Amino acid sequence: MKTNLLDIVSKKTPIWFMRQAGRYLPEYQNIRKNKKNFMDLCFTPRLASEISLQPIKRFDLDFIILFSDILVIPHILGQKVTFKESIGPILQPIENISKLTNVKPNNWINDLSPIFETIDLIKSKSEKKVIGFCGSPFTVLTYMLEGGSSKDHKKTKLNLINNSVQINQIIELLVEISSLYLINQIKAGAEVVKLFDSWAGILDQYYYEKYVIEPNKKIIKKVKKVYPEVPVIVFPKGSGEKIEGFLTKVPCDIISLDKDVSNEVLLICKKKKIIVQGNLDPIRLLAGGDQLEKKTIEIMKKFNKNDHIFNLSHGIYPDTPIQNVEQTIKTVRNYEKFTR
Ligand code: CP3
Repeated sequence: MKTNLLDIVSKKTPIWFMRQAGRYLPEYQNIRKNKKNFMDLCFTPRLASEISLQPIKRFDLDFIILFSDILVIPHILGQKVTFKESIGPILQPIENISKLTNVKPNNWINDLSPIFETIDLIKSKSEKKVIGFCGSPFTVLTYMLEGGSSKDHKKTKLNLINNSVQINQIIELLVEISSLYLINQIKAGAEVVKLFDSWAGILDQYYYEKYVIEPNKKIIKKVKKVYPEVPVIVFPKGSGEKIEGFLTKVPCDIISLDKDVSNEVLLICKKKKIIVQGNLDPIRLLAGGDQLEKKTIEIMKKFNKNDHIFNLSHGIYPDTPIQNVEQTIKTVRNYEKFTR
């Protein structure tokens, strides 16, 4: 199952959007209103596969991303997750850290089988490439410790300092489970996998090395040992200047970039043959109009010398007008047509 992504990318700039399956689509809202429990949706293959396919039925996109969530891992580890409107995810507190660190990853992977079934169902209905994913260990850890989203991540940062032995054990557990989880997603049919490290940017250099660079590196090595040909995307959001060290040390195939990108970063990626993915600000997609077209073309030009996958710098806002998504895809396709 060789996915020669470099080959595809050298012929055209593929396009997909983070959170392309989600609340801005009325057909998603339709399913969601009858299924109040978001986690149930993630664990119901018939519905999760239908939602994954919704954006590609409507738009000319190149990839399907599995509809699921990074919080399925704490959920199966016993921290039940619920979603509260306008608040976000709420995780049951960790009852007992030592109970958690005694977990045997192999015993838990079965609980994730509905997700593998979802991928299988998607593959039976579409020829397009499927992107599987999970959260990177540090990002998942923040939700586990904070019990949900957090503005200052105080609990997490305090635990890193005061409770490092147990933190290291949880990170190791998440490395093991996440690797197995991605390997099984690939076995089920995912042709690309992505690691979301949404909170990488909150750490200083010391902790960034320890909890962003190391765990992502370990997971990629474990996945590559089984599936060396499957491209891995990493999204170390908010890394700022630390992204250069990340690119030097983490053997990823594709780097998902947020906001600003320096020419040095683009050069490192070119030298290391790392595909760059990004980086339209979702607020521009929401705002629409001439600025959207201008910015889209600017991004196409900026990444012109690199292998590039067009995407956002973060997920689509739920109130994004559908016509803005259509307009952006058209701009990217037309740019391709007239410049290649
Ligand atoms: O289309 C896709 O990109 C695939 C689906 C996907 C979802 N979540 C569906 C979802 C993916 C890749 C994720 C990843 C995810 N989930 C991340 C990493 C990326 C990021 O956003 O930084 C994180 C941190 C989460 C955790 C999470 N899930 C939060 C904080 C929230 C609430 C805030 C929000 O944006 O709604 C979710 C809920 C969620 N995940 C929804 C969807 C479609 C909305 C749920 C609903 O219908 O109410």
